[in-house]
Amino acid sequence: MTSPITIPTLFKMKEKGEKITNLTAYDYPFARLVDECGIHMILIGDSLGNVVQGHSSTLPVTMDEMVYHTKMVSRAVQHALVIADMPFMSYQISISDAIANAGRLVKEGGAAAVKLEGGASVSAVIRAITGAGISVQAHIGLTPQSVHQMGGYRVQRDEERLLADALEVEAAGAFSVVLEGIPSDIAALITQKLKIPTIGIGAGPSCDGQVLVIHDLLGMTDRHIPKFVKQYARLLDQARTAVQTYAADVQCGNFPGKEHCY
Ligand code: KIV
Repeated sequence: MTSPITIPTLFKMKEKGEKITNLTAYDYPFARLVDECGIHMILIGDSLGNVVQGHSSTLPVTMDEMVYHTKMVSRAVQHALVIADMPFMSYQISISDAIANAGRLVKEGGAAAVKLEGGASVSAVIRAITGAGISVQAHIGLTPQSVHQMGGYRVQRDEERLLADALEVEAAGAFSVVLEGIPSDIAALITQKLKIPTIGIGAGPSCDGQVLVIHDLLGMTDRHIPKFVKQYARLLDQARTAVQTYAADVQCGNFPGKEHCY
């Protein structure tokens, strides 16, 4: 296994044009799997609201839940940079709340950095959290916590605003920025203008790295799969077959067999 990934590692990768890999994980077994596969960054995304908790948005996710999941992931990771999402309303109310909540994700959760959504409107928050010694990844474009303001999960196309947001979060001290749901040419322009690495999700191939939700990549969900997702497996189908076969085996007496008995 290579040495642990740090923020300077990511900057070097951008400089050399080496693509950065990033996936979500929400618990110990998945974090171990992803880390062992050599993925550079693991995000405990508030997407856990959708894929783990069964909500229709990320809005209900709480700080205590994020800390709980971050602890499980941190315990498993030896190599990747662990980033924890700041959930809705954990950084919007006041700067002191934002610093305290970011601190919980690092101190209690074991994250190396936090991520929060928004551009120019959250630059003061990014400045304050980084000023407290905590690294921040920004997230602009389609920001799921603003689903109601955006009128749904819509691709964001305002080039001037997106570029201004990207430059603002960089100036505020973010070490990286997630570009979600924006046209590829705008993502390419932002990636070229910024010194910090851009991580794309639905933002085309020119970003410095890519992130996906692990449940989407593995085909572990039957929720709507967005156009930007590539499914590398259909684990849900395999899991269904396994569970159905187990049930049938128990009912017809095939399980447990002699080899499973003491
Ligand atoms: O919550 C999440 O998983 C995210 C990524 C998809 C970028 O914010």
